Amino acid sequence: MDHFELKNGELYCEDVRLAEIAESVGTPVYVYSRATLERHADTFRAGVAAAGDVHVAYAVKANPNLAVIHVLAGRGCGADVVSEGEMVRALAGGVPPEEIVFSGVGKSAREMVAALDAGIGQFNIESEVEGEELSAVAAARGKRAVAVLRINPDVDARTHAKISTGKSENKFGVPISDAQAIYGRLAALPGLAMRGIALHIGSQLLTLDPLEEAFVKVGELVAALRADGHVITHVDLGGGLGVRYKEGDDPRWPDEYGAMVARVTADWGVTLMFEPGRVIAANAGVLVTRVIRVKPGVEAPFVIVDAAMNDLARPALYDAWHDFEAVHPTGKRFVANIVGPVCETGDTFAMHRDIDVVAAGDLAIFRSAGAYGATMASFYNSRDMVPEVMVSGSEWAVVADRIPAAATVAAERVPDFLKG
Ligand code: LLP
Repeated sequence: MDHFELKNGELYCEDVRLAEIAESVGTPVYVYSRATLERHADTFRAGVAAAGDVHVAYAVKANPNLAVIHVLAGRGCGADVVSEGEMVRALAGGVPPEEIVFSGVGKSAREMVAALDAGIGQFNIESEVEGEELSAVAAARGKRAVAVLRINPDVDARTHAKISTGKSENKFGVPISDAQAIYGRLAALPGLAMRGIALHIGSQLLTLDPLEEAFVKVGELVAALRADGHVITHVDLGGGLGVRYKEGDDPRWPDEYGAMVARVTADWGVTLMFEPGRVIAANAGVLVTRVIRVKPGVEAPFVIVDAAMNDLARPALYDAWHDFEAVHPTGKRFVANIVGPVCETGDTFAMHRDIDVVAAGDLAIFRSAGAYGATMASFYNSRDMVPEVMVSGSEWAVVADRIPAAATVAAERVPDFLKG
């Protein structure tokens, strides 16, 4: 459930007309609903509470806007970060350092130092060499890094190949078959305080079976590690829960997920950690756009909107579907192609889509754009960086400015040796 609804024939976010925001801030613009973010955070927590002692670390990569992090921190979410930049954001957004988990397959030594100095709660180690390096960095600073080992369970998450992370050919984690031996060696290092296992098998998962299959393997590993004499207190089950992008998507919402987790982990005796991103943020945001013009096409008209692949990359990258709706729908529909102004065919949001009839100047939204939307935006085609707005009840504010593409020119220069 979200808070983007029609009232009096026009789309609102909570109690604010989207048209008011669009007219004031300009388009394209991302709009987030605080009530939806909070609802999703609460629903997720309630779902996994069935599994006992849990720690929810919001995956900042899904939407790293400071105001979003602040709202979620207020709901008791920690943060899962994958770069120093995300860590800085999490801290600035009000997440206590001990609630921060540092994931990611390529942590640099510099990032390790920054995270140790900030006093973050846990590192998720992705390889033996990374663990050795983290140990050395920590020991040199007289510290021990609290850490878990990320395993790769080799299960097929049955999602888009580019967001699948738990198959043996993927770059993430250590093969589960090697995990026991690697864990033993890492646990003996002076700069590490190993306390458990992590995994994350992929994103936009619409079925629980692959997760359950992976969790069962982790349960066996935990038992084997304990038999080796290790004290295992934490298991990080990652994120990955899918959301409804289009009719027919049937996500396994947190209660069903929580029940499965509770069943599979019943005898683990650990603190369970989670890293949800999309399930919290996706449907809490829309991208508001204005139709530039409608161009006739051979098979269907092209609705050219002022948002493009540089603002919302998911359709171009993953052939992702985002529902498109007019802000002032008339009830009339037509079949059209929805495209942006960027000069490549990949800048296509939808082909042959049955949509609200729109004309030049009309406002429309792409739904479910709160996760992996603004954060993946770029200046491509020297277009502005898209601004972001947060709504709370009848209040709203710009929470990320539009950065004019022209401003990037000021950061560039033609050196003297090229002149003359
Ligand atoms: N934890 C780790 C270690 C991850 O790699 C990810 C996502 C998450 C948690 C959060 O997963 P979620 O709950 O959001 O599924 N840009 C892509 C999605 C990439 C996901 C990468 N990792 C997209 O737009 O679909």
